[in-house]
Amino acid sequence: MATPKRQVGRYEKSTAAGEVISAFIPEPLPPALKLSAALQGRVRLAEQKLSRLGLAGEMVPSLEWFIYAFVRKEAVVSSQIEGTQASLVDLLAYEAGAPVGEEASDVEEVSNYLAALAYARQQLRSEKGLPLSTRLLNEAHRRLMKGVRGASKQPGELRRSQNWIGGTRPSNAVFVPPPPHKLGGLLSDLEKYIHRDDDLPPLVRAALVHVQFETIHPYLDGNGRIGRLLITLLLEHWKLLSEPLLYLSLFFKRHRAEYYRLLNAVRLEGDWEAWVSFFLEGISTIADEAAATARDLFVLVNKDRARILSASNASVMAARLLDQLPRHPIVTIPAVVKLLDTTKPTAAKAVGVLDQLGILQETTGRRRDRTFRYTGYLERLRAGTELEDS
Ligand SMILES: Nc1ncnc2c1ncn2[C@@H]1O[C@H](COP(=O)(O)OP(=O)(O)O)[C@@H](O)[C@H]1O
Ligand SMILES: [Mg+2]
Repeated sequence: MATPKRQVGRYEKSTAAGEVISAFIPEPLPPALKLSAALQGRVRLAEQKLSRLGLAGEMVPSLEWFIYAFVRKEAVVSSQIEGTQASLVDLLAYEAGAPVGEEASDVEEVSNYLAALAYARQQLRSEKGLPLSTRLLNEAHRRLMKGVRGASKQPGELRRSQNWIGGTRPSNAVFVPPPPHKLGGLLSDLEKYIHRDDDLPPLVRAALVHVQFETIHPYLDGNGRIGRLLITLLLEHWKLLSEPLLYLSLFFKRHRAEYYRLLNAVRLEGDWEAWVSFFLEGISTIADEAAATARDLFVLVNKDRARILSASNASVMAARLLDQLPRHPIVTIPAVVKLLDTTKPTAAKAVGVLDQLGILQETTGRRRDRTFRYTGYLERLRAGTELEDS
């Protein structure tokens, strides 16, 4: 191991699964970090691209669509990083009330992520809500870990035992996070850092906070997802992006080995620069991709609307159905009855018009409980979220 560039932390003897191991206790933030001109350039570029993404959302009357879609994309991909087996289409089908098969508990996890994010954002926006704090993250964690699979993971609570990352047993772990008795202090330092000013640009601060959180690894499970959710919250808190439109986890998923290697390099070598640079590249890349996707989706919906209006069997209901699809890209007839507040025959007719135009496609092949997908929309939205991409 190379000598660290700077003070990174210290080790303390701890025990896990009956073995004595060295647990790592990081120094509090911030590290002595001086941004090179190159890094400063990256910061400015990422800031610009984020604000452009914010504008791409605001320009169109359909910001709500993009928030809806991109938050789901982030939830699915962040969950996939450590192996949750649910795709974006699984999630949307589940939300549409279509039957889910074996992936049920995976889809539940993703759905929990959405609930955790919505809860945290709502707390931060309301005057009486919790501030960005350990308590808020614990409450988010409680919601994330709700249900079958998370129940044994102490939802909403800091771990009370020593954990380790990678390897088959503590002695061959890649990394041993701090012992449980240190968690309270470390998280309170992190919380103070978030609320204290320093000279670093907020994007860099968000990068530092994410590694520090992953290094502390305060929960039995869900540390990656809560740590990435924290990035989303920080971007909003520090006014870098007013809505959660950035699905940054896609960058981490795409470069997972690099992501893990750089988290490690901070602890082993004090190499904060390499991590910060990677993080900023991720922000720029995904901000561009999300803005392009937003534009694509918007153009598609407009094109499809024009096609409906010029179709011989055009109806007001069919056009109204199209307007609902971005928030409900997978629908059933009963769902359309509710969405359009109409009768079953009228709903079926509207679906029929869109089906004939190829805008909606029936996917079950059944005569009953039919499920229709807005395929063109889903194709564009789901890029990078398929399980085989993992
Ligand atoms: N060497 C490492 N040092 C610190 N954090 C790491 C390291 N390797 C992986 N991680 C983080 O740990 C996360 C996995 O922890 P886990 O508690 O299982 O979270 P989740 O269940 O949300 O995926 C990864 O997504 C990553 O963010
Ligand atoms: Mg996990």
